[in-house]
Amino acid sequence: MASSTFSSLFKLSTFILCLWVLFGTTSGQLSANFYARTCPNFRSVITRAVNSAVASEARMGASLLRLHFHDCFVNGCDASVLLDDTANFTGEKNAGPNSNSIRGFNVIDTIKTQLERQCPGVVSCADILSAAARDSVVALGGPGWSTVFGRRDSTTASQSAANSNLPSPASSLSSLISSFSNKGFTANEMVALSGAHTIGQARCSVFRSRLYNENNINSSFATSLRANCPSSGGDNNLSPLDSTATSFDNRYYNDLISQRGLLHSDQELSNGGSADAQVRTYGSNPSVFFRDFAAAMVKMSNLSPLTGSSGQVRTNCRRTN
Ligand code: HEM
Ligand SMILES: *[C@@H]1O[C@H](CO)[C@@H](O)[C@H](O)[C@H]1NC(C)=O
Ligand SMILES: *[C@@H]1O[C@H](CO)[C@@H](O)[C@H](O)[C@H]1NC(C)=O
Repeated sequence: MASSTFSSLFKLSTFILCLWVLFGTTSGQLSANFYARTCPNFRSVITRAVNSAVASEARMGASLLRLHFHDCFVNGCDASVLLDDTANFTGEKNAGPNSNSIRGFNVIDTIKTQLERQCPGVVSCADILSAAARDSVVALGGPGWSTVFGRRDSTTASQSAANSNLPSPASSLSSLISSFSNKGFTANEMVALSGAHTIGQARCSVFRSRLYNENNINSSFATSLRANCPSSGGDNNLSPLDSTATSFDNRYYNDLISQRGLLHSDQELSNGGSADAQVRTYGSNPSVFFRDFAAAMVKMSNLSPLTGSSGQVRTNCRRTN
């Protein structure tokens, strides 16, 4: 009796396990094995291309992570950010936060070309961005996270939504909290996601006023940055967003504690306000930062995707079919 109960329970759990393996983990309508039959090698194509791009230029990992963020925060993760402007179409590339700033399009094009050769018309540009962001973080030493696929690509874009939804580097702590809250994120998740600034660079034009007008900046840090970012001119000169900008680590938070945040918005997280304690936690405990960052990235990657028969799978990420 006991053993037959055990055996039917065993059969039931085996059956459930098979279902789980068959359909994979799902999140909304996205799933881990979405391309299992239609493009089984797509993950390794993307990982290989990202690793090679990051090996030739470490900053590319940062640029690809940011592209996914700028995609997802503007009407969801739908590759709208990749559409080129044309004579009769205005996309997001020339919105204030993107213009002369976002990069990495050639890497996405290279991946798309390889995938179109293997599985024409199958893997969406939005899924490529999502996978490339994760692979970029891993390539620079950060945490991985589980990914799900099945996003489709938009046929539209919105320059005005890009201007209004992407946070400005001049933001106060309360406006950072509200721009992330508008997308469903808690203040804690905002602080974790800001840790993306542990990699990459920024232009003089976005941090100049901090160097010349603010008091909560480490004076030796300010002096060294001014050399490369004069009070006028040099707008496109780059400085690293933290002191170890080619490795994904927790240094960003320790830099904030020493008043070495590059952007005004960065330093807002450690300026005597409600985020200070979390910055200290991440600064002394990298594994807590990694765990929270990974969880928040999973959430960001799921922002209102197009699924089913909505949108399309572009064959060229820069234009609609
Ligand atoms: C919290 C609000 C945020 C603000 C105000 C902000 C603003 C900025 C600005 C102004 C730059 C430099 C742009 C330039 O110089 O042209 C930048 C770079 C960057 N941002 Fe953010 N950002 C924020 C959040 C995020 C998030 C959530 C992510 C990703 C999860 C992210 C990833 C990056 C990366 C990786 C770079 C460097 C890109 C490169 O080197 O190409 N940022 N951000
Ligand atoms: C936009 O212009 C292109 C040529 O540049 C043309 O092929 C296309 O039909 C136009 N689309 C619309 C909606 O007018
Ligand atoms: C300025 O930066 C240096 C080097 O990181 C650090 O030792 C010092 O404590 C910082 N000063 C302040 C006021 O945080």
